[in-house]
Amino acid sequence: MKHLSARPARLADAPAITEIYNQGIEDRIATFETEPRVVSQIEAWFGHALAILAVEDGDGRVAGYAVAHPYSPRDCYRGIGEFSVYVRREARGRGVGQAAMEALIAAAEAKGMWKLVSRVFPENRASLALMARMGFEEIGVHRNHGKLDGAWRDNVIVERVIAANLD
Ligand SMILES: CC(C)(COP(=O)(O)OP(=O)(O)OC[C@H]1O[C@@H](n2cnc3c(N)ncnc32)[C@H](O)[C@@H]1OP(=O)(O)O)[C@@H](O)C(=O)NCCC(=O)NCCS
Repeated sequence: MKHLSARPARLADAPAITEIYNQGIEDRIATFETEPRVVSQIEAWFGHALAILAVEDGDGRVAGYAVAHPYSPRDCYRGIGEFSVYVRREARGRGVGQAAMEALIAAAEAKGMWKLVSRVFPENRASLALMARMGFEEIGVHRNHGKLDGAWRDNVIVERVIAANLD
């Protein structure tokens, strides 16, 4: 997709982010969540997320986002972000996810974070391809990590160390 631009997300992006996340929830490929979010839940992210990045298409519309939440409340893990990345259905496969992840990695580095981690369903080929493309390592597989629509599902653990912040 031409003219993509990534920037820190703003509170005013919450309705668009909600819509995009809810498409991902509906598609059943990305998350164990099954209940659609409401905008106030996404607005709350702006109070506690480590970073939220939005990608705009050429028309200034939010086409995707990436968010990193604290991995753990423990101080020793304060530099680890647990992230997710979602792209509007009609915008997938055109570089939006990559733009969101590049911006997230840059933001994490700027904030002194030393690692990004996530979990991906093994069936989610697009997400695994994006992670590989962005330099994430597959650490292993959580077996039977949760149930989605009554079926036990595995999760591939992915991580990317931000070497610049290991000092
Ligand atoms: C997964 C997702 C974020 C990827 O974003 P995207 O904008 O569609 O991906 P991009 O166009 O930036 O492509 C990035 C890489 O993934 C590859 N890819 C994208 N879609 C793919 C698909 N359906 N199958 C295989 N590879 C795919 C691209 O070829 C590209 O790799 P390359 O640069 O080596 O060629 C997006 O498809 C999405 O939102 N899916 C639903 C929600 C989701 O699964 N989120 C991830 C939760 S862990």
